[in-house]
Amino acid sequence: MSVIAVTGLQWGDEGKGKLVDLLGEFAGVTARFQGGSNAGHTVVLGDRRVVLHHLPSGAMRRHVRCVLGQGMVIDPSTLIEEMHTVESINGPFVPNRLTISRRAHVILPIHRQADALGERTTGVRIGTTLRGIGPAYEDKAGRRGLRMLDLTGDPGRLRAWIEAIHDAWAPRFERHGLEMPGAAGAFDMCTEWGKALGPYIGDASLVLHEEIVKGTNVLLEGAQGTLLDIDHGTYPFVTSSNASALGAPAGAGIAPSCITSVLGITKAYTTRVGEGPFPTEEKGEAGDRLRDAGHEVGSTTGRPRRCGWLDVAALRYAVRLNGVTSIALTKLDVLTGLHEIKVSTGYRLRGRVLSEIPLDDLDAAEPVYETVEGWGEDISGARDLRDLPAKARRYIARLEGWLGVPASLVSVGPERGQTVIVKNPFRE
Ligand code: GDP
Ligand code: IMO
Ligand code: MG
Repeated sequence: MSVIAVTGLQWGDEGKGKLVDLLGEFAGVTARFQGGSNAGHTVVLGDRRVVLHHLPSGAMRRHVRCVLGQGMVIDPSTLIEEMHTVESINGPFVPNRLTISRRAHVILPIHRQADALGERTTGVRIGTTLRGIGPAYEDKAGRRGLRMLDLTGDPGRLRAWIEAIHDAWAPRFERHGLEMPGAAGAFDMCTEWGKALGPYIGDASLVLHEEIVKGTNVLLEGAQGTLLDIDHGTYPFVTSSNASALGAPAGAGIAPSCITSVLGITKAYTTRVGEGPFPTEEKGEAGDRLRDAGHEVGSTTGRPRRCGWLDVAALRYAVRLNGVTSIALTKLDVLTGLHEIKVSTGYRLRGRVLSEIPLDDLDAAEPVYETVEGWGEDISGARDLRDLPAKARRYIARLEGWLGVPASLVSVGPERGQTVIVKNPFRE
């Protein structure tokens, strides 16, 4: 039995969806533990491309049970739409194939509007996904949030709770002369959502516990990435949850000792969507080339992603913080055709060279680059390390050396099968 936490080591979009879908073959359960519809996890099956926002990426396999953990914030209208998409491919969700934590918080229309208002009016523009994530977590921390269990509870209590949330946001809207969405409309929506989702709302923590006791293989699928973690990322340019693997036990509702390994996912280069520091960003031709070759456009918002070179010093930090046991290197195919590949292996800060990214001193720090030889051969058909050109293998070996952890998976294209499984993380 293995319980693997899958976590992004960068600023999100590392290919978590593809790999969780792939590893779903060996798992009985996949669970999300934080975030909400800000996530966009892509699964490509032949000519079909499905982007999941709430459902864990095991959803595309019929034998896999899906769990939405209590650390999540859920936008029920987006979730219902997603369920329909998956059902049209995979057949109906039956309640024991999907459990939505009754303690997960609900994103209301007011949260989406408050997100947009915050981006327009506060001093620091984050470049959020405008999905209402931050304001929903604000209400959770403020102990006035609405939970999934409230959707199917006493209607009088539900109405009063929604009104209290609207009252709490009213001063911010009034200060900017903006009209608020009505609480009555939200109440009607919540009642409908309760009817549609009620059969799936349950005790996610207990479901996971019982599966783990039975010996089921479990994948805990992180959203966003370590550098967007609210406690451990590039604050304030972060999301509002613990997106690193440190959030997995709390958000899934399982004991930390249940997690048997941590799979860290990194692209072979770096991308970021939204504002905030990105020391290895390439704003010119090199960045454009990575964006074009990697089709780097946001899965959720359609925004072009900022692109740059691999930041090994940031990865070292993420590997240490998450306790990564092996890495999955994705989008290696995107580097094909580059004569030379730049990699930042450290930071120069006030005359010293640091091996980890100095997150709180980035203004004064500068990446230190090394150059690795590139390759010209098409690698998108590789299924074994031996199928890769020597220079691509050397790039992987250098990365393993820099990080001190092995690469268990190397991804060479968006499709499930376009992967070199060096060592199946479920068979470690
Ligand atoms: P996630 O948020 O971490 O699940 O990643 P996204 O789905 O937002 O973004 C990753 C994008 O890269 C998606 O369009 C995937 O289909 C695609 N992708 C994943 N792995 C590979 C790969 O190895 N090569 C290429 N070319 N595309 C990949
Ligand atoms: P996946 O799971 C990349 C970024 C936003 C913004 C910051 C805060 O697909 O990797 P939020 O809406 O969460 O309050 O925005 O976080 N962001 C992501 N960037 N991938 C994601 O998810 C992201 N989810 C949020 O662009 O900078
Ligand atoms: Mg994504």
